[in-house]
Amino acid sequence: MPIRSPVIATLGHVDHGKTTLLDSIRGSHVTAKEAGAITQMIGASYVSRQTIDRLSEHLAQKMRFELKIPGLLFIDTPGHEAFTNLRERGGSIADMAILVIDINQGVQPQTVESIKILQQYKTPFVVAANKIDAVHGWKKHPVTSFMESYQLQPAHLQQALDEKIYALMGNLSTYGFDSERFDRITQFDKQIAILPISARTREGLSELLVLIAGLSQKFLEGELQIDPTRKAKGSILEVKEEKGLGTTVDIIIYDGVLRKNDVIAFLTSEGVRTTHVRGLLEPNLGGKEKFRYVDEVVAAAGVKIFASQLAGALPGSPIKAVENLQQDRVDLENQFKQLLTEHAERGVIVCADSLGSLEALVRLFQQNSIPIKETKVGKITRKEILAARAVAAEDRYLGAVFGFNVPVLTEAREEAGSIIPILWSDIIYELPERYASWVKEEKDKEKQQVLASLPWPAKIRALPDHCFRASKPAIFGVEVVVGKIKNGVRLMDKNGERLGELKGLQHEKEKLEEATAGMQVAVACEGPVYGKDIQANDMLYVHLSPEQLATWEKQKALLSPEEKQLLEEYKSKIRMYF
Ligand code: GTP
Ligand code: MG
Repeated sequence: MPIRSPVIATLGHVDHGKTTLLDSIRGSHVTAKEAGAITQMIGASYVSRQTIDRLSEHLAQKMRFELKIPGLLFIDTPGHEAFTNLRERGGSIADMAILVIDINQGVQPQTVESIKILQQYKTPFVVAANKIDAVHGWKKHPVTSFMESYQLQPAHLQQALDEKIYALMGNLSTYGFDSERFDRITQFDKQIAILPISARTREGLSELLVLIAGLSQKFLEGELQIDPTRKAKGSILEVKEEKGLGTTVDIIIYDGVLRKNDVIAFLTSEGVRTTHVRGLLEPNLGGKEKFRYVDEVVAAAGVKIFASQLAGALPGSPIKAVENLQQDRVDLENQFKQLLTEHAERGVIVCADSLGSLEALVRLFQQNSIPIKETKVGKITRKEILAARAVAAEDRYLGAVFGFNVPVLTEAREEAGSIIPILWSDIIYELPERYASWVKEEKDKEKQQVLASLPWPAKIRALPDHCFRASKPAIFGVEVVVGKIKNGVRLMDKNGERLGELKGLQHEKEKLEEATAGMQVAVACEGPVYGKDIQANDMLYVHLSPEQLATWEKQKALLSPEEKQLLEEYKSKIRMYF
């Protein structure tokens, strides 16, 4: 069976150079003599084997090998949104990825996001440590090989670069990756290769392309075999309006062949839809028209489909040329159910910009044990808030709406008010974290409310010779032995008999709000008679109801060791309460 070109995606933090890298991969080789070596496709650029061979000519022997793959297909829309749309049953159709990291900035939030996504999809990747030309003092050389340029740098610059690479290796190891500069790697299946490059000067592009070609050939050969006589399988990268064509879809085909007039099946938010391919379009570079029509496209390739009924197609949806309508339908319906309908009875509401990011979110929420009730590809409207309100009525901590990269309508914000949180981010991995901190905040607030009305456990001793008035109210001196007392709490004796309410605390004629362990204060207590109900040296307790005691049991963390001990004493008395 023939081998197709591997699909390569670029990911990385904003401004680290993904677009510039793809531009320079494309631009650097469209020289007159090599015209046609690079084909610009819809959503992708194709670099042929001949180009890669030519680039490896000047490289050391170690990197030369015989290429069997026809070329490399680079996905042009960079970023993890595009990556997650290259989906195939929970996996990715990207065979490999380039993680672009600005060597002067190191790992940043979206780098982390990209790493986590790559881990989730188990996609092998290399790191392009970009912008080496911006390392202070770097001497640019008109070569595309990193090693050549590196040898030409003075020793202190080689060292400066190496130090940045070490820092990056340290960064990556915190995410569990063993990485090394590509030429120092001994085991390519265990270590991640770091390629220092400059997308701007093109230094390092040779090694980058050759290494990706070599690695994908070595480790992915089995997965790259295709049957070009079979009908196409692909994934929708983008859904776009085109003047004169209406809604079109840009797709990446990873297996088989797609022809004009084929029946295709894909997902919308209502379910599976089928239509006929009316046209297959490729970019018409240099021509007057934006696109040109082709009759068929073989994997791996990017192409734009022109057809009726495409409005509502979901980015990230699988798309296939139908071979057996019945079977293909069932297969797609299952995927639809899994992502868009089959969810927990009680759970949160999740809205994402594409099926791809939704899938990544659903998985992440599962890992974090956050149940999902409803999912949607699209904006947050009043409807989602109402759904969350219904959930909140049963479990307030699940009444939340999540948005990933989607607009939030004003009507939704109004309906949500301060009751339903709308947790929004453009970084997938932030959403469970946002949720956790919202839940914690709410629980803390609740705790504060409960605690504000809960008497603190305390034990006090009636001091001898300090009775200032026997009754109505009794006024006498006490020492707080454990805990704290406040105006308004009720006292009980050691048998659990209620004595009365504390009406005033005084210390050296000053009124006090509360008294804590170790303090000696005078208290006024309505109810008991000193000398009858209370004797000198009696231990008295702040009265707690069984419910209040149970609440304290749950909030034990707030108590000192002595106060915890006191709770045990209460428990032995609680039988006597009533
Ligand atoms: P987003 O698409 O916004 O996420 O950014 P990106 O990763 O595609 O970055 P882009 O290629 O747009 O580059 C961002 C900036 O960095 C631009 O100003 C580039 O010119 C610059 N840049 C990219 N590569 C290099 C490089 O190798 N060296 C230097 N000095 N600048 C670079
Ligand atoms: Mg970009």
